[in-house]
Amino acid sequence: MKTIAFYNLKGGVGKTSAAVNCAWLAAASGLRTLFWDLDPQGAGGWYLAPRESGNGALKKILRRKIPVGHLVVSTPYEKLDLIPSEFAYRDLDVAVKRHAEGDRTLATLISPFGEDYSLVVLDCPPSLSELAQQVFAATDAVLVPLIPSALSLRSYEQVQTFMKDRRLGHKQLYPFFSQVDRRRKLHRGLREDPPASLKRLLATEIPYAAIVERMGEQMQPLPAFAPNDPVTRQYRALWCEIAERVGIS
Ligand SMILES: Nc1ncnc2c1ncn2[C@@H]1O[C@H](COP(=O)(O)OP(=O)(O)OP(=O)(O)O)[C@@H](O)[C@H]1O
Ligand SMILES: [Mg+2]
Repeated sequence: MKTIAFYNLKGGVGKTSAAVNCAWLAAASGLRTLFWDLDPQGAGGWYLAPRESGNGALKKILRRKIPVGHLVVSTPYEKLDLIPSEFAYRDLDVAVKRHAEGDRTLATLISPFGEDYSLVVLDCPPSLSELAQQVFAATDAVLVPLIPSALSLRSYEQVQTFMKDRRLGHKQLYPFFSQVDRRRKLHRGLREDPPASLKRLLATEIPYAAIVERMGEQMQPLPAFAPNDPVTRQYRALWCEIAERVGIS
């Protein structure tokens, strides 16, 4: 089993859209996939299977009162299951710290899923916190969508520093450009000549396109309702590149 996270310190950059679409594409390719929505906003789970979340269950799991598998629900899609967000996740930082198995509380919760799943996809809230540290310790790869701008690059460098300071090693960070508007000179420039700090930059970029926002109206992943759209092709290319770079099969 491999575990990957979609993460950025910055909000609104396309983490959830990419996480949901890649999880759907992984499942469609035959991998048993679990999507864990770690963001209290709950957007990722809502795209996959709109339902009320079970508030408070996570605390019982951390206290070992119920097994983590009890959080899993099915989605309408074959081979794709979900752990929906809980509003209580706004306290997740505090909760994992209190029940600390060091940095590895989240990793310990994820490991039993190896029996049933080939891939776990984590959709993370935008913050640099205890939870981020847990996510970095639990994953084989952290995918970082970046809107091409100076501010985005700065926040990416802050993430690299955070990982370095905590000796998390940043070999597992894979940035990729997101919401790219090729009409904009700055976007083209950064795309064509990316700064050296963007090590392991993925070749695939996700364009800015209104159809991505329609995932909200449709309440479905993009490839499920627009399988032949050019933007779906980009998400497919992104997923294939991630699978190849991280060795997911
Ligand atoms: N490539 C894109 N083109 C156009 N709109 C996009 C694109 N990617 C995402 N969006 C839209 O931008 C908004 C934020 O996207 P998304 O929820 O994927 O980002 P996020 O990084 O997960 O945000 P948050 O930090 O709030 O969790 C959504 O309304 C989404 O539909
Ligand atoms: Mg999100």
